[in-house]
Amino acid sequence: MASPLCILLLGALVHLARSDDSTDQLLKGINSYRASLNLSTLTENDNADCLAEQIAKKFKGQPCTNTTGANTVPGTEQQFPDYPDLLSHCHLNATVTQDAAIMPACVPELNTDLVLSNYTKSQYSGSLNDSKFVGAGLAEEGDWVVVVLSTNTPAGSLSPATGVGSLHCVAFSYHLTVLLLTLLLLLLK
Ligand SMILES: *[C@@H]1O[C@H](CO)[C@@H](O)[C@H](O)[C@H]1NC(C)=O
Ligand SMILES: *[C@@H]1O[C@H](CO)[C@@H](O)[C@H](O)[C@H]1NC(C)=O
Ligand SMILES: *[C@@H]1O[C@H](CO)[C@@H](O)[C@H](O)[C@H]1NC(C)=O
Ligand SMILES: *[C@@H]1O[C@H](CO)[C@@H](O)[C@H](O)[C@H]1NC(C)=O
Ligand SMILES: *[C@@H]1O[C@H](CO)[C@@H](O)[C@H](O)[C@H]1NC(C)=O
Repeated sequence: MASPLCILLLGALVHLARSDDSTDQLLKGINSYRASLNLSTLTENDNADCLAEQIAKKFKGQPCTNTTGANTVPGTEQQFPDYPDLLSHCHLNATVTQDAAIMPACVPELNTDLVLSNYTKSQYSGSLNDSKFVGAGLAEEGDWVVVVLSTNTPAGSLSPATGVGSLHCVAFSYHLTVLLLTLLLLLLK
């Protein structure tokens, strides 16, 4: 019942919280690359954003080396022991991320041109040029960028388990309402 309001509230918050500029720029760059290959534009996927953020936080603070990020030799990517926790934080499970692509890159100071070429001119280009991907989530932490690509198939859609998200949202709206009322009371004092 609280759903439309909830979506509105969450949308507004997600919008506010988004680190915009540089990740927007990277998504634009990736989409120009796809346009040059006559591929569809990737649309931002909030669940992919969430997962990208969780993974970026795990990498944050790790230095860039020639074996991290886009320089990783295929098959040697760092595995996350707590990957299931990262997923559940975003109300996802491994079923809906099987076909997704998770691509971390490490670029000192996140130099815009180097970040883009770390995606379009590395092993990652093989995922970026794949027509099965339709959505993307991006996040930055420290020197790290993480891009998560989603498909429109059940195995890569990154759709949350039904029910969990809306329950969470109702609780969230409740907390937000209490917060707003408290602020209002403080202001009226
Ligand atoms: C993209 O489409 C245009 C027009 O249909 C065509 O001329 C061009 O060769 C295509 N490029 C690629 C990379 O397929
Ligand atoms: C990474 O760099 C180290 C030292 O700079 C070098 O010895 C090693 O061969 C490099 N590894 C790769 C995979 O390029
Ligand atoms: C990726 O970024 C690193 C900096 O961390 C840079 O040295 C490297 O040349 C970049 N790779 C590509 C393919 O752009
Ligand atoms: C996508 O990129 C990979 C790696 O660069 C290449 O092997 C493959 O042929 C490309 N596929 C398309 C459809 O362009
Ligand atoms: C993951 O979630 C999907 C969608 O809600 C569900 O169909 C699937 O059974 C779940 N898989 C696991 C392993 O929990």
